[in-house]
Amino acid sequence: MTSNYAFDTLKIRAGYNSEEHNYAVAVPIYQTVSFDLGDPDRAERLTTANELGHVYSRISNPTVEVLENRIAALDGGTGAIALASGMAAVSYTLLNLAEGGGRILTTPRLYGGTFDSLKQIFPGLGINIDLVEDSDEPESFRQAMKEDTKGILIESISNPNATIPDIEAIAKIAHDNNVPLIVDNTFATPYLLNPFRFGADIIIYSATKTIGGHGTTLGGLIVENEKFNWANGKFPQFESPVYLLKELPTGRSRTVLEVFPKVPFTARVRLTYLSYLGALLSPFDAFLILQGLETLSERVTKQVASTEKIVRYLENNEKVSWVSYPSAHDNKYRDLAAKYLSRGAGSIFSFGFKGDEQQLKKFLTSFNLFSYHANVGDARSLVINSPKVTHAEMNAQEQLAAGIPPETIRLSIGLEDANDLIADLEQAFAKAFAQG
Ligand SMILES: Cc1ncc(COP(=O)(O)O)c(C=O)c1O
Repeated sequence: MTSNYAFDTLKIRAGYNSEEHNYAVAVPIYQTVSFDLGDPDRAERLTTANELGHVYSRISNPTVEVLENRIAALDGGTGAIALASGMAAVSYTLLNLAEGGGRILTTPRLYGGTFDSLKQIFPGLGINIDLVEDSDEPESFRQAMKEDTKGILIESISNPNATIPDIEAIAKIAHDNNVPLIVDNTFATPYLLNPFRFGADIIIYSATKTIGGHGTTLGGLIVENEKFNWANGKFPQFESPVYLLKELPTGRSRTVLEVFPKVPFTARVRLTYLSYLGALLSPFDAFLILQGLETLSERVTKQVASTEKIVRYLENNEKVSWVSYPSAHDNKYRDLAAKYLSRGAGSIFSFGFKGDEQQLKKFLTSFNLFSYHANVGDARSLVINSPKVTHAEMNAQEQLAAGIPPETIRLSIGLEDANDLIADLEQAFAKAFAQG
């Protein structure tokens, strides 16, 4: 499928040719563990990557492959890999970059689970984390670079405050230091932002959120383009010969870069982490995420419009101390949003609740429509007190550094009618602040 098609065509069609699948119109679910190898010669060609094809569904599967190719097409990448969750996408990316020892440079403005994994698991695996002093100041990234920094990780729209980093400036600093920029683009989705256009080298998604869009399915995606030079001496794992990748008939071991020059990063995740650690996306879950992708832009357009209405309502509510969303009054990310997110800054944002702890509890238990739980990007609207739940792994100081004071409430706006959602907020505020 040519990438000249517009986004809305690619999201329905890319990566799938019905002629290769018994002319099935919808993408079939290949619910099989393994695939016939044919004959021993073909088996050898397949297992040494002299011929590309499916062998075993832990490593690749035709339904999952359609999702991989579709997301790569939507981001204009050369390849992608789908995994069982967004966390698998984050952790396999960091391992693939810095295995054997190295540092990742990032900011406290990360999903709580990502931040916690960086503190709890990676140092024990020889991968240490540096946090920039000032996440809004690109030069802070330059100052925090160290000899063994292997990459910079940022979120294009942060959780929960919808802050926006200067992606292009940070990409330049990464490249000046011969390391890639990794952008977790979960909140933006490929519809609102293509980080490759601004210099990102690897894009990560939790497909669990707005891409899947219906709160039914966990999934993660890693997308790459072919621009970064993995042979610059900092990443020996891409340059060392791999026994399995032997050339036929000579038997010479080849490197990942030699065999997969256009997709070295995701090929290595597949050959190493997916093969040995698992975390595959099931074909059925890939199918559900593909269903979600088919309506991505329609859903996001409505969610952004509703978010704008709800932000205006909250800005004019005397029980609200602040609203953190780029279009909100005096928001410092307005210009960055205009540059990077011209279609809107997503549907997840936060606000400050002006009551005491009891009133906050009453507020959270008074909704008729907003569901109180930890997901985002669902078709249903969601509310949560981030400091106590999604970011509970951070201590009070880390929460303040990440801009999440105790009064923070996060909303994820779904597909219900915006006026009904505003009425639901209004009655929850009224109940929370009722006298007696
Ligand atoms: C920005 C971001 N990245 C990654 C993740 C992890 O995704 P998953 O829950 O699919 O493992 C989340 C989850 O909330 C997230 O918000």
